[in-house]
Amino acid sequence: MNLRLRIVIAIVFLALVAWSASWVFTGDDAPASTAGNAAADARFRWTSSEQCRDCHRDVWDEWQGSHHQIAYLNPEVRRLSDDFRNKECQACHLPQPIDVTGFGQRALPRLTRPDQGVDCITCHVGRNGEVFAAHTVPDAPCRPVTDARFTSMKLCESCHNQHQTTDQWRASPFAARGVDCNDCHMPDVDRKLADGRVRVGRGHRYPGAHDEAMLRKAGKFEARVEGREFVAVLLNDGAGHNFPTEERHRAVDIEWRAIDAQGQAGEWTRAFRFRQPYREEPGENTQLPAGDRREVRVTLPEGTAKVGVRLWYRLNPFAVDGDAASTLLEEREVIVP
Ligand code: HEC
Ligand code: HEC
Ligand code: HEC
Ligand code: HEC
Ligand code: HEC
Repeated sequence: MNLRLRIVIAIVFLALVAWSASWVFTGDDAPASTAGNAAADARFRWTSSEQCRDCHRDVWDEWQGSHHQIAYLNPEVRRLSDDFRNKECQACHLPQPIDVTGFGQRALPRLTRPDQGVDCITCHVGRNGEVFAAHTVPDAPCRPVTDARFTSMKLCESCHNQHQTTDQWRASPFAARGVDCNDCHMPDVDRKLADGRVRVGRGHRYPGAHDEAMLRKAGKFEARVEGREFVAVLLNDGAGHNFPTEERHRAVDIEWRAIDAQGQAGEWTRAFRFRQPYREEPGENTQLPAGDRREVRVTLPEGTAKVGVRLWYRLNPFAVDGDAASTLLEEREVIVP
């Protein structure tokens, strides 16, 4: 092969690569043809989630303010990633579409739309520009197509298995019963269509560890006194994975205090902490797997008339009772017989 031919082949190859990747890397300044033309214009490209907004207003409103939307703006994440100077943090917090690397694979970072974090395009748009959906709707302007990878938990796995949440779910009784991530995190909602019909949609708020009602669903708590022992039991029958899961920051604490016959109360003391320690921290993972129960026993001091007990959820392990990162899930007093 002579040199000129090799150069021509190289140029053609590079042009093809640039063309095929162009929609992925198009910035916010890319010409945004109106989304309504999606069906008519074969060269139409989805370049911003705002293109979905006008037609899917209620989905947009749910997603706005969700932890997916704020993933790149979240002050807590910015603090710990040194304002994203740590480039390793960008891939899941400001990602390209999952389909670019493949469902179940780690996403690639993107450089555009910092205010859209994990967005419509990340989850829904395929590498050829198609819109993935649970159903194919041929006459809809965005031409959604059903795709088994998109509705599988491989979609969540790309980002949510870093701390084994997806693996924990696979090993859980929920997976065995066919209850998946979306059954709990994308509850059914009514969607009113433009023509007045109503169909079932899926919530896009993704409630999790920042949602008190969701935290309360995770488990069942029991407290009793047996002889001179105080017994607390936590059962995880509502989180489809460990409780708490994911972030090593999270913790769940059982606390107790003795109260004597005069009503004098002792200090609140931690009886147990459910948590996965930081990598450099000693100790084992004490998170409570789905379906499991944990019983904690404390020997009571002489003269205890009542035991106070509390169950706390902590967004980080340094949080203290009553601060903004702590949520009181249960509080009881048990009388010593
Ligand atoms: C010009 C209006 C328009 C735009 C823009 C648009 N859609 Fe749609 N979309 C529709 C209509 C109309 C339907 C069919 C009615 C319905 O089910 O909501 C639909 C259906 C869907 C469905 C399938 C619903 C099902 O039954 O499973 C999904 C998913 C979807 N759109 C996602 C998106 C995403 C993501 C974007 C942006 C990347 C987008 N759409 C942009 C109008 C639009
Ligand atoms: C493989 C994907 C991935 C990477 C890479 C990643 N994260 Fe995350 N991050 C997640 C997911 C998924 C969540 C949501 C689940 C959770 O809260 O644990 C999350 C949540 C967080 C939260 C909790 C936010 C809150 O408001 O409580 C912080 C803080 C955070 N990440 C910081 C970082 C930092 C710092 C880096 C880089 C060292 C990083 N992340 C890299 C996937 C990732
Ligand atoms: C591209 C990566 C990515 C994908 C795909 C993804 N997530 Fe997330 N998810 C994140 C990140 C990052 C956060 C946390 C952002 C933050 O708090 O700053 C998050 C947050 C959440 C939260 C809220 C956690 C909290 O503490 O409030 C839930 C629930 C959640 N995701 C569920 C899912 C489910 C279910 C799927 C699959 C349908 C999914 N996610 C797909 C990256 C992803
Ligand atoms: C974290 C991934 C993720 C993000 C981000 C996301 N979606 Fe979805 N969306 C899904 C999944 C998964 C389904 C299908 C669930 C099912 O029915 O199996 C879905 C379903 C839908 C549907 C059909 C059901 C309904 O509720 O009407 C529409 C329309 C839709 N998405 C639009 C959007 C738009 C618009 C955005 C951005 C504002 C968006 N989605 C962001 C994962 C996502
Ligand atoms: C049976 C219902 C159920 C299923 C199934 C389920 N979850 Fe959860 N999830 C919960 C509850 C309840 C919480 C709140 C308690 C907690 O943080 O563990 C939660 C919390 C979370 C959080 C917040 C973690 C954090 O610390 O910020 C993320 C992220 C999450 N789930 C992702 C997933 C993913 C991904 C799947 C599927 C692999 C899944 N969930 C399956 C009920 C469920």
